[in-house]
Amino acid sequence: MACPRNLRKVLPALVALLAVTAGCRLDMHLQPYYRPFAKSDFFADDRSARMPVEGAVARGDLHEDTYFYTGKNGDIPGDALPFPVTKDVLDRGHERFNINCTPCHGRVGDGGGFIPTRGFRRPPSYHIERLRNAPIGHFFDVMTNGYGVMPDYASQVTPRDRWCIATYIRALQLSQNATAADIPAGQQVPSPPPQFRDIGNGATLPEIATPAASEGEPK
Ligand code: HEC
Repeated sequence: MACPRNLRKVLPALVALLAVTAGCRLDMHLQPYYRPFAKSDFFADDRSARMPVEGAVARGDLHEDTYFYTGKNGDIPGDALPFPVTKDVLDRGHERFNINCTPCHGRVGDGGGFIPTRGFRRPPSYHIERLRNAPIGHFFDVMTNGYGVMPDYASQVTPRDRWCIATYIRALQLSQNATAADIPAGQQVPSPPPQFRDIGNGATLPEIATPAASEGEPK
């Protein structure tokens, strides 16, 4: 009797499966082991897991390039970028700044973000003398370790993105303190729409109105 059509199709696969599983043995497959975090009577501290040897470094966590990860040479913030500045770096910094920093620092970095209008301390403007002269490593360090009441952004913003943001802040600082002499010859600069002119404080965006506190809201 001829094999049904379907069986003839799967027969080679069945034979192959038999050949493979025929070699199955248990050998060392069944070994004593601890489930993660299980208690152990063997070690004095009752833990089954051992602490890493002091100085052990997880894969990918060596951070050999200290400047890239701290923005400092020794204890002193450096004034160099650890990679070349490109348009992509600035665009990335622009985007990450707008997401992570503008709620407090405002789009132009003058400290006119929304959160300070609701009671959080108003951050200093990036356009004050001290911050204009601060080395770029300082901005990286503020994001990495926080500053005063400002929390750090080490877990939200990757080291590379922190450099991109710091670069963008430098561009913001330039944008608020540029003179006609900074414009390359022959370059046309469109004038801003009226609502963005002469806001004072070097800022070019309108003030964000403080919403009227509604009843029952926590003060
Ligand atoms: C929740 C609000 C908030 C956010 C979001 C925030 N900051 Fe701040 N930032 C502050 C405040 C407030 C200060 C002033 C802290 C102080 O002096 O105690 C400050 C200060 C700073 C300073 C000035 C440090 C100095 O030397 O005076 C820099 C630079 C800075 N922030 C950068 C950033 C960057 C970059 C981001 C985004 C990654 C960011 N901040 C996000 C609130 C914020």
